[in-house]
Amino acid sequence: MTEINEHTDRQTPDFMAWLQSALFNRKAVEYFHPLLTALNPLSGPELKAQVLGVYSETNSAKRLRLKPRDNWNGFLPGQYISITLEVNGKNIQRHYSICSELALWENEGLIDIAVQQAPNGEMSNWIAHHIKSNAVIRISQATGEFTSKENATPKLFIAGGSGITAIFSMLINRDSDDPAPTVIYTARGEGNHLFKNQLTHLNDTKMKTRNNLVNNQTNDNAPSVILHDSIDGRLNEKTIREYCPDLADRSIYICGSHKFTSGINQILSDIGIEKEAIHSEAFINSGDLHTTATLPSSDSLIEFTRSKTQIQDTRNKTVLELAEAAQLNPKAGCRSGICHQCKCRKTSGIVMNALTGVESSSGMEDIQACISFPIGHVKIEL
Ligand code: FES
Repeated sequence: MTEINEHTDRQTPDFMAWLQSALFNRKAVEYFHPLLTALNPLSGPELKAQVLGVYSETNSAKRLRLKPRDNWNGFLPGQYISITLEVNGKNIQRHYSICSELALWENEGLIDIAVQQAPNGEMSNWIAHHIKSNAVIRISQATGEFTSKENATPKLFIAGGSGITAIFSMLINRDSDDPAPTVIYTARGEGNHLFKNQLTHLNDTKMKTRNNLVNNQTNDNAPSVILHDSIDGRLNEKTIREYCPDLADRSIYICGSHKFTSGINQILSDIGIEKEAIHSEAFINSGDLHTTATLPSSDSLIEFTRSKTQIQDTRNKTVLELAEAAQLNPKAGCRSGICHQCKCRKTSGIVMNALTGVESSSGMEDIQACISFPIGHVKIEL
């Protein structure tokens, strides 16, 4: 008996070492990872979410209901998550604002995002046609500084297109004693205003659309929502003043495409609104870059020095697109100048930043490949 116990005691450390190695050795975990993933799609170290539902918000927008795994930390209204999907054999990442109530997260561990289809949007088109309930997708923690800052000052929200998503989140999660905000939401064409029904319901005071002004005010604190149809004309100083005569006394939150937010910021600056009163968040996609930037037209040559490849005639292509055309598999995320994952070293030559229109120096520096257009002869360390 004693002998057996001694034998067992002597073997314990070796057995424990083996067990530990089997369970925690990285290779063992990697070995079992496919099995664990099959049993529980949300397992593993990555942040993931399961798609619980896909709903049509408009003809060109889907709302996805997601259940993030339990290492996801929650969100502040106005924040977004990044989603990474494999589309046509390459990993792409895009950002989408959360558009659901905090209570849905706190009580049920669920969130919603809205995905507006863009004409050249690789991910939004893929989601529109292929995503299914129960799919598991990679997500990030919620991030972003575009959140509601304080309650005392009445707010004016100005949204363009899918820029309403972040603002909608702030609206449905606002404190009930916040002063009544005004919302000016512009979209192109009837039926393209996201969350129209919910906004109408939220509003229940006055809802102005192109042909319709409803005013059945029952609550002084309810938002005033104006749905502007940009087919009738872009927002300008006159329309903004008409929709919100006291705009100079408000905190102003703007969200939309880079072109939209730049235009509204310019109008507000011309009116004399202080910069401190304005909070804005812009999103861009490569389609925007190609239409808003004044692109270099000269013939050019890009050399990728590490891989010893080059491409002649780089017109209308970013450094990232050129690197992909050269099959270099460059790292990228948002493709819109936000995440900095595409940062790479330019060793010589000039590039133009498509967001600012500013040309770089000709020396060595780090650039964001997704928003940089080469001018002339440029060398990149890729
Ligand atoms: S890919 Fe995100 S900044 Fe370039």
